[in-house]
Amino acid sequence: MSTKSAQPHLLTCARFALAFAVLPLGKGSTLEPAGLAADRVATLFWVLTIGATVIWLVVVGLALYAVSASRRPQSPRGSSLLIVGGGVIFPTVVLAGLLVWSLSMLPGLLAPAPAGSLEVRVTGYQWWWRVEYLGAEGATIELANELHLPVGEPVELQLESHDVIHSFWVPALGGKMDMIPGRRTRLRLEPTQVGVYRGVCAEYCGTSHALMSLVVVVEERQAWERWLAAQAQPATSPGEALFLEQGCGACHTIRGTAADGALGPDLTHVGSRASVGAGVIEADVPGLEQWLAKTAHLKPGVLMPSFGMLPPPELTALAQYLAGLR
Ligand code: CUA
Repeated sequence: MSTKSAQPHLLTCARFALAFAVLPLGKGSTLEPAGLAADRVATLFWVLTIGATVIWLVVVGLALYAVSASRRPQSPRGSSLLIVGGGVIFPTVVLAGLLVWSLSMLPGLLAPAPAGSLEVRVTGYQWWWRVEYLGAEGATIELANELHLPVGEPVELQLESHDVIHSFWVPALGGKMDMIPGRRTRLRLEPTQVGVYRGVCAEYCGTSHALMSLVVVVEERQAWERWLAAQAQPATSPGEALFLEQGCGACHTIRGTAADGALGPDLTHVGSRASVGAGVIEADVPGLEQWLAKTAHLKPGVLMPSFGMLPPPELTALAQYLAGLR
């Protein structure tokens, strides 16, 4: 390859490296469980790993013994016992036992949350999450890319997709569940520890599949109730004229303003979230400024156009307005 063609290639790589430098949004290891379902998955992992290691060591030990032991003749009865016992009976009993034990976990993992539990609808989009808290009287409180849950309570998630197949996965809280267009799947989570956890999309869904994070904040019941009440409030800010002038309201909703678009994320309380762009950049003034100026640069394939043509003071004003929507 000539250096002439290598340079643009390097530039593209650097751009992608920048784009994929995802924010550290919270704990995201399946081996540090903070939920009932994740606990079972971790137990299954450790039992299978330790069991497999022990059996592997025994088999390697026997192989070494067979190679090094003196070659005295074996009785045909002894040989048959070894082959039938070690080659047929042992693996059959161990594998059948593990199968029965792991299948016995399924009913607990798949059971729906009890009636009256908190219900949240999460819809996958290329490449973000619409989150709707479903109230008792059909009222919903909507936000995006962030989920707040009270600790120690079961929650029933209704999972849907707007476009292609996505997969909802918060490793520290539970297993994966596909989000399939035209179909509703469900998942029960029950967080056991207060904290901030990272969720991801676990099914390749297009260009920015890797830039589709979800923040899950698990908090005490009272803090959660305060947060939900604040989310239900309409947005208030004097800086909204610019937002409406630029036509942002065609795609985004900010409750309490004329902006009522439904194509993109609801921005009513965008300033209270950890990130914009589903984990791409922080939702503070500098982060929002960068996001507005170069969406496609930060997130390849994103549907939102860049507003880099706006004069810097206007970009700052827009970012301040959005960051102020707390
Ligand atoms: Cu959505 Cu991968």
